[in-house]
Amino acid sequence: MDLDQLAALRTPEGSAALRSTGVPAGLAAAALTQAELRRRAVGKFGPEAAGMFLTRAGLEQATRRVVADRRAARLRAAGVTTLADLGCGLGADALAAARAGIRVYGVEADPVTAAMAAANAEAAGLAELFTVECGDATAFDVTAVEAVFCDPARRKAGTGRRIFDPNAYSPPWDFVTGLAARVPHTVVKVAPGLDHALIPAGAEAEWVSVDGDLVEAALWCGALAEVPRRATLLREKEGSPPDASVRAAAPADQLTGSGTDEAPVGPVRRFLYDPDPAVVRAHLVAELAGGLDATLADPSIAYLYAEAARPTPFARCLEVTDVLPFSLKRLRALLRERRVGRVEILKRGSALEPEKLRRDLRLAGDGAASLVLTRVAGAPTVLVGQPVPG
Ligand SMILES: C[S@@+](CC[C@H](N)C(=O)[O-])C[C@H]1O[C@@H](n2cnc3c(N)ncnc32)[C@H](O)[C@@H]1O
Repeated sequence: MDLDQLAALRTPEGSAALRSTGVPAGLAAAALTQAELRRRAVGKFGPEAAGMFLTRAGLEQATRRVVADRRAARLRAAGVTTLADLGCGLGADALAAARAGIRVYGVEADPVTAAMAAANAEAAGLAELFTVECGDATAFDVTAVEAVFCDPARRKAGTGRRIFDPNAYSPPWDFVTGLAARVPHTVVKVAPGLDHALIPAGAEAEWVSVDGDLVEAALWCGALAEVPRRATLLREKEGSPPDASVRAAAPADQLTGSGTDEAPVGPVRRFLYDPDPAVVRAHLVAELAGGLDATLADPSIAYLYAEAARPTPFARCLEVTDVLPFSLKRLRALLRERRVGRVEILKRGSALEPEKLRRDLRLAGDGAASLVLTRVAGAPTVLVGQPVPG
């Protein structure tokens, strides 16, 4: 309980709730838990969260609606009409596929989660398109469907701890990656930190960000693979209508490529581009550099530099005003002279702690600046700049 809840319980309304008879304590507690989880789920699912049944672990692992809807639309566009969701959890992905008109067969090992997924299908009016059976996904007869989707559990049951070794996923990695050989349309959701060496030959690996935050990666196998690597950038915040169904229809920005090309290296130039994390993780910095006529200043650091500021959805752009070898004294003196009182601190390739640096700078003044902590040709460097309006 937090202080606000205690204060609410001490109001006349709270006293009435505490005295209320006729609601068994267990039922009241379950209803409260659902109310709290639904409130937290709005950020992921939008207004539909108000009618969903949720568990804490299920909500944490569930796919955001904007991402699930986009995946479902791509499956439908590829001609998929029947899909097995192997380990469907609370059903966020399965519901999106059903909304796209796909008949979904969900399999879920945990009985409460399976029952909740079925309740969610009913609440959404999709019970005819999405059915759930409680059982082991590895025993499901995949010959009965055109496509399979698997989002293996990447948290330890009970403790909720994150699992980083794909061999410890459930269903196990061998089963998951073996699906592609058995079903012509297979999609697997994986952790965004996935090692590129684990991407099966011939699969498309896609990294997805929402409002600049990296949220997941997916492997598109068989006939669904269109390119080796893809970065998909979705936006929920700016200018999106609150209705999630309209939001999902908004087009994504996508960058594709081989994932093996290397960007050319050159000097620091007037404009710096900080690529979206989906572009960086998909190893598509070289493709972005080509479109911006930009170069790296260090072959191992994903900041790009160019003479011109071109509008791009794939990177933030800053105008570089100063380039200094890193020295706290020199940086402090420069910011004092410019009367800079507020800084945002970006970093790649630097071990410095931004918050400690901010304190050590003892800023004073009305101005604002962006600081970029990085390396240039191997040397620790700080760039001072200003954001270029997007
Ligand atoms: C990451 S969650 C799925 C989340 C879902 N895609 C969503 O967005 O709501 C993985 C689920 O797989 C289930 N699971 C793990 N191993 C399984 C197995 N062998 N058979 C069936 N379900 C399994 C877990 O209980 C968990 O609910």
